[in-house]
Amino acid sequence: MSYSRIVGVGSYLPARVVTNQDLESRIETSDEWIFQRTGIRSRRVAAQGEQTSDLALQASLKAMEMAGVTAADIDLIVVATTTPDIVFPSSACILQRKLGVKRGAAFDVQAVCTGFVYALAVADKFVASGQNKCALVVGAEVFSRLLDWNDRRTCVLFGDGAGAVVLKPSETPGILSTHLHAEGDQGDILTVPGTVHGGEQQGHPFVQMDGQAVFRFAVRALDQVCRETLEHNGIKGSDIDWLVPHQANIRIILATAQKLGMPPERVVTTLEHQGNTSAASVPLALDLAVRDGRIQPGHLVMLEAVGGGMTWGSALLRW
Ligand code: ACO
Repeated sequence: MSYSRIVGVGSYLPARVVTNQDLESRIETSDEWIFQRTGIRSRRVAAQGEQTSDLALQASLKAMEMAGVTAADIDLIVVATTTPDIVFPSSACILQRKLGVKRGAAFDVQAVCTGFVYALAVADKFVASGQNKCALVVGAEVFSRLLDWNDRRTCVLFGDGAGAVVLKPSETPGILSTHLHAEGDQGDILTVPGTVHGGEQQGHPFVQMDGQAVFRFAVRALDQVCRETLEHNGIKGSDIDWLVPHQANIRIILATAQKLGMPPERVVTTLEHQGNTSAASVPLALDLAVRDGRIQPGHLVMLEAVGGGMTWGSALLRW
């Protein structure tokens, strides 16, 4: 049996910080409302002209440095994003060019906030099967471009950023299992229902969300996929060393941890100063906890996410 293993992780945040106080001066909101309902105090916002592939490049270079690999080693790039630089080429192909990678496949995966877990699951299959020897898996978003900054119900929630991992084949796990789900019937509760058609904008270009419906869906879906992951691997929640969740809302995160029987101290959170960075949030949190020494070799780590689609999923791995 062959597995894939994460051998490097990296992340990148744009320089500009937008605090809740900054938002207070633009829309009718308050730091207290935002922090109490979500756990967010500030987020990063990309500069004009700073694209998803630029953030992805910086995160990738850090992950490659930790892994000790160069562009010549990479033979697969999977980028999870909802905010590609342009319609095509894909952000993965643009990243491939920026990195100077000359071979292998490169493609995007679109599962909104679950995107990184989807991308990791896809790349895991390629690497564990022996088809690819060195995969770069990235979650990168300039989500700020999908926000109506006058809509207080949505603009306070999100931020921009990128995270990346390098996957290599391994005789020992590595990634133990991945679990992916989608429920297209629920797509309307969280959507950007617009596009460009024949040169004309059609529909609505900004995030629309039924916050309470998303909240209820997220808690239910994450409970389901966490149970599925535990059952599949024959373990209990208390066996998990670190929960690295998608960072949408602290109340969703803590509800999931509680259902798993995990104390808050074993949950990695970044949303206070990053907000919800969609597909980037899981690798951003993973990078933080690896680099600050919380996640150690041998630790059992569960990644989970839920997002537009609706989509949700998890990955269990031995660090
Ligand atoms: N500042 C001040 N007041 C606000 C703001 C704001 N930023 N946003 C909404 N309000 C107001 C509303 O207008 C409403 O006022 P009203 O009663 O006069 O109409 C009041 O606050 C309550 O609004 P609700 O939507 O009921 O607030 P709720 O307690 O549900 O919190 C929230 C909203 C934080 C969005 C919550 O529903 C939530 O977190 N849902 C999950 C959504 C989520 O995480 N989305 C991220 C993307 S999806 C994902 O990543 C999984």
